[in-house]
Amino acid sequence: MKQYIIKGGTRLSGEVEIGGAKNAALPIITAAIMTDETVLLNNIPDVNDVNVLLDAIASIGARVQRVDRHTVRISGKSINSSKVEYEYMRKIRASYYLLGALLGKVKKAEVPLPGGCNIGSRPIDLHLKGFNALGIDTEIKGGDVIGDARALEGGRVYFDTVSVGATINVMMTAALTDGVSVLENVAKEPHVVDVANFLNSMGAKIRGAGTDNIRITGVKRLHGCEYSVIPDQIEAGTYMFAAAATKGDITVTNVITKHLEATISKLVDIGCSVDVFDDSVRVYVKEGKELTSTHVKTLPYPGFPTDMQPQIGCVLAVCKGVSQIKESVFENRFKYLDELKRMGATVSVEGQVATIEGVEKLSPATINAHDLRAGAALCCIAIGTSGYTIVEDIEYIKRGYERFDEKLRGLGAIIKEVDSERDIQKFKLRNA
Ligand code: UD1
Repeated sequence: MKQYIIKGGTRLSGEVEIGGAKNAALPIITAAIMTDETVLLNNIPDVNDVNVLLDAIASIGARVQRVDRHTVRISGKSINSSKVEYEYMRKIRASYYLLGALLGKVKKAEVPLPGGCNIGSRPIDLHLKGFNALGIDTEIKGGDVIGDARALEGGRVYFDTVSVGATINVMMTAALTDGVSVLENVAKEPHVVDVANFLNSMGAKIRGAGTDNIRITGVKRLHGCEYSVIPDQIEAGTYMFAAAATKGDITVTNVITKHLEATISKLVDIGCSVDVFDDSVRVYVKEGKELTSTHVKTLPYPGFPTDMQPQIGCVLAVCKGVSQIKESVFENRFKYLDELKRMGATVSVEGQVATIEGVEKLSPATINAHDLRAGAALCCIAIGTSGYTIVEDIEYIKRGYERFDEKLRGLGAIIKEVDSERDIQKFKLRNA
């Protein structure tokens, strides 16, 4: 089983280029099949979730051509099935976007219930409520969600909880649904806006993405276009917190700084220095500067992202004082704290609140990635911790971070992917 071995105690420094946002690329790839014309997508990250999804759309007949590592040409003209096989979908949560895209395009869909990271029960009731309001009958049978349009028509949906996935999914279907649809209490994440912009580039009429309400006037068909996905705010934030975790000096390039405001604000709270430029951000810890505790509450955008919670949690484990994190989006996102405890952190969890008392230093251990963001966060804190740390289950990390170990090495980290005890011994000898 593949692992990362890390020789910690390194202060990361340098520049790292941020790739396209995974959580924008996934729905954009699915939305691309909604037109019969060809779509050219740029800035697509080369990560496992994206590659599985590309295979999935190819399996129902889409033509997919990788022009280069980050450019994909997609044609949905040859779609010949509305049934997606479980094989493709068990690993990725974003499988549910095929529901929205297929219901819009061919008015029916049969898609396995989503898999993905283990961070809570993650229901899809809001997606189904939204489809229902557009005149679609849904049922769950044999592990599949089956959707069939009775009389597809514009509708009004109020989402009881702010959901990125439900907002995007229903928005996609509504784009090709006769009449006007109004989605209320929607997610305002940058990737929601990016998907709306992409659909509009294909001829959709979507207004209000980025606010609480989205109004969609359905069109009969969408057309081809060329589109570039926004930079990944979570990948950027991960490297920004890596600077804090290693008391380093990292500049993330190719970012939209506006999307990073909540992350920057917390880095400043704990004592990091942050310089914001046009499309890059430098995060550094001044010589001799001690980082200090803070309180965090995760919230939908523009609040502090739940996908940045493990990154800040790991850093708070070595910040002076007592910090509290309230996780208000997912109910099971503190598992990584058990791994941090194994590294010597002082942590307690009560319900959705974690209390972290900073220690002077952590010690290396064999730890588990558990989920995508937690895995990346643990690697970063391990780089700042003297000694050899082994991180297991790194497949999670590869779902969403392109060339993670390579990018970290570019910043000075001593990290290698290994898959045997012999590799580990070789690494230790070479890096003794
Ligand atoms: C997306 C992101 C994920 C991020 C999350 C929140 C992708 C592929 N994943 O996940 O990285 O952590 O947004 O920013 O883009 N909920 C319901 N019923 C539903 C749908 C959601 O109750 O039908 C609840 C969830 O349990 C959760 C909250 O709504 O408590 C927010 O979840 P949601 O925004 O839907 O997350 P995802 O779209 O799955």
